[in-house]
Amino acid sequence: MQFKRSDFPAGFQFGAATSSYQIEGHAYGGAGKTHWDSFAATPGNVVRAENGDIGCDHYHLYEQDLDLVAAAGFDCYRFSTSWARVLPTGRGTPNPEGLDFYDRLTDAMLERGLKPCATLYHWELPSPLADLGGWRNRDIAGWFADFTETIMGRIGDRMYSVAPINEPWCVGWLSHFLGHHAPGLRDVRATARAMHHVLLAHGSAIQTMRGLGMENLGAVFNMEWATPVDQTPQATQAAALYDGYYNRFFLEGVFKGRYPDNVMEGLGPHMPDGWQDDFDTIGSQVDWCGINYYTRKMLAPNDGPWPGHHEVPGPLPKTQMGWEIYPQGLRDFLIRTAQEYTGELPLYVTENGMANDDHLVDDVVNDQARIDYLSSHVAAVKEAIAAGVPLRGYMVWSLMDNYEWALGYEKRFGLVHVDFETLRRTPKASYMALKSALSG
Ligand code: FCB
Repeated sequence: MQFKRSDFPAGFQFGAATSSYQIEGHAYGGAGKTHWDSFAATPGNVVRAENGDIGCDHYHLYEQDLDLVAAAGFDCYRFSTSWARVLPTGRGTPNPEGLDFYDRLTDAMLERGLKPCATLYHWELPSPLADLGGWRNRDIAGWFADFTETIMGRIGDRMYSVAPINEPWCVGWLSHFLGHHAPGLRDVRATARAMHHVLLAHGSAIQTMRGLGMENLGAVFNMEWATPVDQTPQATQAAALYDGYYNRFFLEGVFKGRYPDNVMEGLGPHMPDGWQDDFDTIGSQVDWCGINYYTRKMLAPNDGPWPGHHEVPGPLPKTQMGWEIYPQGLRDFLIRTAQEYTGELPLYVTENGMANDDHLVDDVVNDQARIDYLSSHVAAVKEAIAAGVPLRGYMVWSLMDNYEWALGYEKRFGLVHVDFETLRRTPKASYMALKSALSG
């Protein structure tokens, strides 16, 4: 790595991130069905129709996984809690095995000196709630607050930080407009409702956790830099609209109590009644803001219906996901978010990393491409700090190879290689390089 821990201010935190459905093994421990199970079981949605039944079997192997987090020298472990593991039908009676699991997991982090950084929801909605309309139903804010109370009532006393929802854009747009993630809808009305309700649920969960006396509560947004394909006003507008519904919609909702005009041109007619009255909840005070960053997109205008644009392939080198490698976007987002939205509020990079065509050869994975990717993005992070951004930490996605949603187990994002037949873990060259950077 082209950095070391001592390049950063004292107290700057490094972490590794995962999420429940992607690693735990949803078939274990009495978890209820989720919309990802049925989405994955429907032909054409997920590569080889793979699901999270086994994942990395972190449910049973969590101790060795946390040993790896600690041995690398990380300060934090960002994990998520599965709603359907805690409340198998989404509401009502908790599953004692699920609560016990997160209790053990928390203590295992603390025993290893790791700060537990929880995300309450990383996408696996309990099926009975999906049947009621899921994120389209306004009642989800109350269901989510109840789930928050149940899980944080058990482990909240030991959390370092908590964010309610991972990546509202993916919950809203990716899953209801593009249909790439569960529930796989392609419907602008569903999208408008999900985009709003996900923020309402976020704010309701923040209020619930304040009620439990919890501190260090935040929000985690994914961001993609939007570049116009050329300098025409039409292309510039196309990129601004992508930036609007991808990045600004959620920041403006939480930090300014409104939604961007260009986005409301399309979503406005489809918003749920009374949405204007929800910003007191949506804007509940947070203590930090997290940014997940991977890439940028190039946008071209077209004559189709709103949003009237499409992505075009960019010229930069790409990861295994086909995502362009564009570290400047991370620096620019950190600076812009602080300048325009969050001011002095602590920022974190809560996810950053790449999928690579990794191969285990003689027990070694030589993922130099990942070392280069992480080095260049950490350099961008340093530039943001030098520009005055109050950045407090950086977390890698992901600790280990896992279930990459619609792309199944094919795309490998881990610092640790997982053999999905034997479940054997092998630290990759990037893990070793990071470990040495973090000790320096
Ligand atoms: C993020 C998700 C994470 C993983 C990475 C590659 O959007 O939070 O679960 O899929 O992308």
